[in-house]
Amino acid sequence: MELTLTTPDDWHLHLRDDEVLPLTVNHAANRFARAIIMPNLSLPIATTELALAYRDRILAALEPGRRFSPLMTLYLTDRTTPEELYRAADSGAVFACKLYPAGATTNSEAGITDPERLDAVFETMTQAGLALLVHGEVTDPEVDVFDREAVFIERTLQPIVERHPKLKIVLEHVTTRHGVDFVRAAGPRVGGTLTAHHLLYNRNEIFRGGLNPHLYCLPVLKREEHRRALVEAATRGDPSFFLGTDSAPHGKDRKESGCGCAGIYTAHAALELYATAFEQAGSLDRLEAFASHFGPDFYGLPRNTTTTTLVQRDWEIPQGYEYGNSTVVPLEAGKVLRWSVDSTGTAI
Ligand code: DOR
Ligand code: ZN
Repeated sequence: MELTLTTPDDWHLHLRDDEVLPLTVNHAANRFARAIIMPNLSLPIATTELALAYRDRILAALEPGRRFSPLMTLYLTDRTTPEELYRAADSGAVFACKLYPAGATTNSEAGITDPERLDAVFETMTQAGLALLVHGEVTDPEVDVFDREAVFIERTLQPIVERHPKLKIVLEHVTTRHGVDFVRAAGPRVGGTLTAHHLLYNRNEIFRGGLNPHLYCLPVLKREEHRRALVEAATRGDPSFFLGTDSAPHGKDRKESGCGCAGIYTAHAALELYATAFEQAGSLDRLEAFASHFGPDFYGLPRNTTTTTLVQRDWEIPQGYEYGNSTVVPLEAGKVLRWSVDSTGTAI
């Protein structure tokens, strides 16, 4: 069996930098025409100049003949200026700004200490036409790690949505029923991305037979009732929800450690993993809209004019890929996936 789709895009992707780019970029480019590139490098991409230079490094890592458009983002800090935001928008290469609450996740130390006091920045972003991408978790250590998304929505995001009625906002990697309900209720200018791993797994999987560090990400996997709410949101044909892998590689040594990093690498099989989740839900016919239509529609960009074909053919996922001086262990390492990507870039 085959499934041919308008070539999809990834609206949330971590590529990292330098020697690992050939791996991460080409895994993504074999499946997606465009991707929103996360700016949380160890030196955060907080200026247009850094974003443009990073974009050049990404394009230089592409295998010959492959086409892929990195859509850059700016990392918001407590010192982001209106001038920088206008410069970013005018560059034509930067499409959105990322809000990391300081300390919420990987390389977020330079993030925002008080997201409720960013009204001037949000006002400028609205004027400049930049979308706001939000890592939606509170950093309050008193709040249970499994409740951080729900509390962030209530305390921080809902007030921002109300105070900035024209700002385009994406709640990234929605992981709970609360997140789904919030995005749905907020109307068409608020979207939500959904990862393949949050569609496929609940939190039990982290602890199945022992502690599985390669299933640790942030926001952390949640209960089965939440996973079901995400699958329902992805497969209902609701244009507010679209594909964002949050593929986030870390070397094996950094994951299998006394204090392991958060992040799951899915770029090697991203589309195949989504197809698996949609097939399990009996909704393969809804995959194209979720993966290829709703994202560009939300961002006001044209849909792709090429196609990508998924083929039902077993392939065994490698145990790892070379990753600088280390190895990255991909999701489903050593297991067999039923779907594989046959071709990209065939003109319609
Ligand atoms: O699990 C995660 N990994 N969540 C994030 O928010 C960041 C990401 C990373 O960059 O490693
Ligand atoms: Zn991310």
